[in-house]
Amino acid sequence: MKPHPLPGIVVLISGSGTNLQALIDGVAEGRIQGQIRAVISNRPQVAGLDRADRARIPAQVINHRDFPDRDTFDRALMTAIDLHQPDLVVLAGFMRVLTPAFVTHYQGRLINIHPSLLPDFRGLHTHERALEAGVQQHGCSIHFVNTELDGGPVIGQARVPVLPDDTPQTLAARVQQQEHRAYPQVVQWFCQGRLTLCNGQVWFDEHPLQAPLELPIADQ
Ligand code: GRF
Repeated sequence: MKPHPLPGIVVLISGSGTNLQALIDGVAEGRIQGQIRAVISNRPQVAGLDRADRARIPAQVINHRDFPDRDTFDRALMTAIDLHQPDLVVLAGFMRVLTPAFVTHYQGRLINIHPSLLPDFRGLHTHERALEAGVQQHGCSIHFVNTELDGGPVIGQARVPVLPDDTPQTLAARVQQQEHRAYPQVVQWFCQGRLTLCNGQVWFDEHPLQAPLELPIADQ
């Protein structure tokens, strides 16, 4: 009998790739039963590409600046991703807005991590904005991607306290620590088939989620 192939993952990055590293480590340590088949960056020479190289994962740059518009860039990106026939496409610090055609093509198998407790602080500069707003809790959200920017159905969130002397940098570091625990956990659930998107609704362990999961969950 043929061995069952591991679910294939393609990770899209634009920068330092610390979340990518958390996924690479999760696979290496058996916490993620999946195979990262490729890493694609829209920016050349970013640290995340070195992380992929070190893990011997095929890494590729598709520079958005080489394309006349968003549609052509996204089409090239889709072609490159589909060569690897992924079950899951993971956005890990990928800083490009994706076209509806792209998002629709990967519906139900495209997830993102956003550094805020969505629906608060969609978009950029989330840590600065959280401090300005004076919130007591901040964090990150992992969501399925739909055509609304940072508006897709939320799978889970990790919370951190905002401390009185926080700067955007200290707050970002605290949130990132949680990102690195939460993202591998969600990717593993997807690989195990425990997490699905059905008619715009997140299902976990065969139940529709009534609220985002509080991450990370112990002993999963
Ligand atoms: C993370 O904070 C993530 O939430 C956001 O971009 C950042 C990426 O960091 N989408 P890294 O490249 O994974 O280090």
